[in-house]
Parts: sequence; C-alpha cells; structure tokens
Amino acid sequence: MAHADIERVEREGLAALAAIDDLAALDDWRVTWLGKSGTASGLLRGIGALAAEERPAFGAAVNTMKQALEGALDERAAVLRAAALADEMAGDAIDVTLPGTRPPQGGLHPATVADRRALQIYAEMGFQVYLSREVETDEMNFELLNMPKHHPARDMQDTFYISDEVVLRTHTSPGQIRAMRAYAPEPIRIVLPGMVYRSEQVTVRSEMQFTQIEGLAIGPGITMADLKGTISNFAGRYYGEDRPIRFRASYFPFTEPSAEVDVRCTCGGEGCKLCKGTGWLEIMGCGMVHPVVLKNGGYDPARVSGFAFGGGTMRTQMLAHQIDDIRHYWANDLRFLEQLR
Ligand code: PHE
Repeated sequence: MAHADIERVEREGLAALAAIDDLAALDDWRVTWLGKSGTASGLLRGIGALAAEERPAFGAAVNTMKQALEGALDERAAVLRAAALADEMAGDAIDVTLPGTRPPQGGLHPATVADRRALQIYAEMGFQVYLSREVETDEMNFELLNMPKHHPARDMQDTFYISDEVVLRTHTSPGQIRAMRAYAPEPIRIVLPGMVYRSEQVTVRSEMQFTQIEGLAIGPGITMADLKGTISNFAGRYYGEDRPIRFRASYFPFTEPSAEVDVRCTCGGEGCKLCKGTGWLEIMGCGMVHPVVLKNGGYDPARVSGFAFGGGTMRTQMLAHQIDDIRHYWANDLRFLEQLR
C-alpha cells in the first residue's frame, strides 16, 4: 500500500467519471468510488498494514483524494444537469415559422349565392332592388293581385295562414303592389328578392320554403316583346346562350297574357325524376301586368303598361349546377353547402 495506489485510484475514478453521460449513472459512480465500502474507503481499511508514523500522512492523502473526487463529481453533475435541461427545452420548443391550423370559416348559403347571381344580372340590365315583407296581408298577397277570396287560382299556392287576414307570402308578387304604390305614377324597373312559403308536399322539385325573385317594369309602351327579350337575355347570361329555353302560354290572375318559362333540364332532355320525364323544368311565371293590378297599384292602364315575372332562384340555380334535388338546400349537409358558397 503506497501513495502510488492513491494516485492510481484518483486517475481511474476521474476517468470513469468523465465517461458518464447521464445523471442516473452518477449515483452508481458515487457508491463505487466514494461509498462506505467503495474504493477510497478500501484504501483506508488497509492503513493497518503501514508503519504507525506513515499512517497520518497516508490518511490525509486519501482524504485529499476523496475531496478531489467529490469536487469532480459535483462539477460533472452540474454539466450533465445543464445538458439535460437544454435537451428538454429543445424538445418542447415551438417552431413559430410552421403554418397554423386555419379556423373553420363560414360562407354564403347556396340560396344566397343563387339570389346574388341573378340580382347581379338584373342589375346589369338596369333593374333596382326593392325589398318587401315576408308576412303579408291576404289583401296584398291575393286580393289586390286579382284573386278575391274563393278565387280558384288560390289553390295554385297552398297558404300558411297566420290569421284570417294575415299570411306568410306565397310569392313575391305582393311586393309588386307595394312598389307600385310607392312609385306611381313614375315608371319603375325593379327586382324583388325574398323568401316565400307554401304549405306544400316537399319533393325533389318543390320546397315549402324557397327564394323567389320578382321582376316588374312599368312605363309607357312596354310590350310582351320587352318581357321576352328581358327573360331570354337573363337566361342567356345565367346558363349560356346555347341552353334551350321556351315560353309556354299559361295563366295567372295578375297578368294577361301570361306565360311560363321552361329551361332544358339537367338531364339534357332525356327525361328524369327532376323534370318528371318532360326534359324541361319551369323556372318562372310571367306576363303583362293585368289592368286591374295596375289600377290597384295606382297607375292608369290607359297610359302605361308593364310586365312582371317571378320565379324560384334555387330551382334556377339547380339547373345550372346539376343539382338533382331541391331538398339539399335546407338539409344543411356541409358537403353540399361548401360546393356553392
Ligand atoms: N307569382 C307567380 C308564382 O309564384 C309567378 C308570377 C310572377 C307570374 C309575376 C306572373 C307574374 O307562381
């Protein structure tokens, strides 16, 4: 047993310490080299073999060596702890340059898109937008449009009655009377968009709640040719010039003569359940404003004439986008809604 042993233990202990790179292993090292039955203590246990006068110096040397090892242990622990902390911070780091997750964004409902598209075209043709109410009097919705109580034409539109005299409007046509009364005797050229309600069986082609756009032009010398030109032009802009449309003679109490406008169905004319096998789908009713209606609106039928039209904008849109069932509109399936916003 000699001082050389002390130096060797110190050298080997430091070398073993330098090789350790995780905090848990440091504890094992401490037990091995500095513990009660560790290597350093082993040296002291051999002290009895030395001559009595050599013992104090040897003991002091061992203690100095132990202090050196302890100091080295603290240093190593501090280095490893700092490294572990740096590691942890690097792992948790947020990369602020990564793209974020976009919050879901709402959009316009297809029925709104349909309205705006049609209104845009009418605006380009010089029509102004006029808004009218959804809750109407029986008088406005029917009587002033030449449909007195018990008129058989009332059966064309099954009505939601709020009371005997108040209804949910079954069409946008009562807006004609309101607009005429607001502007008579001036000429007018307006479109009137809005929701209408009918107590009807819901099918692929008809809903109980749907959007319509009414059109009304009044002034001196307005003819059926103006009506036909306006609607043909609208259809050409909405569907493209090559989409066939047709005017079919029809009847409405508030226009005379009257017609309905059909557009070639999405099936291309072969016949499907949407067009009930006819190859055509009706998108609007129209005609020359009936003299009785002109009078009810405050105009003199001897001086002015006018045309009116009114049709469902959802149906109009369906024919442009191959939508085969009007019930998609209110079903609120995002897969449908997101396609047309
Ligand atoms: N109001 C009619 C309907 O809803 C359509 C129409 C409007 C017809 C204007 C002629 C003139 O069916």
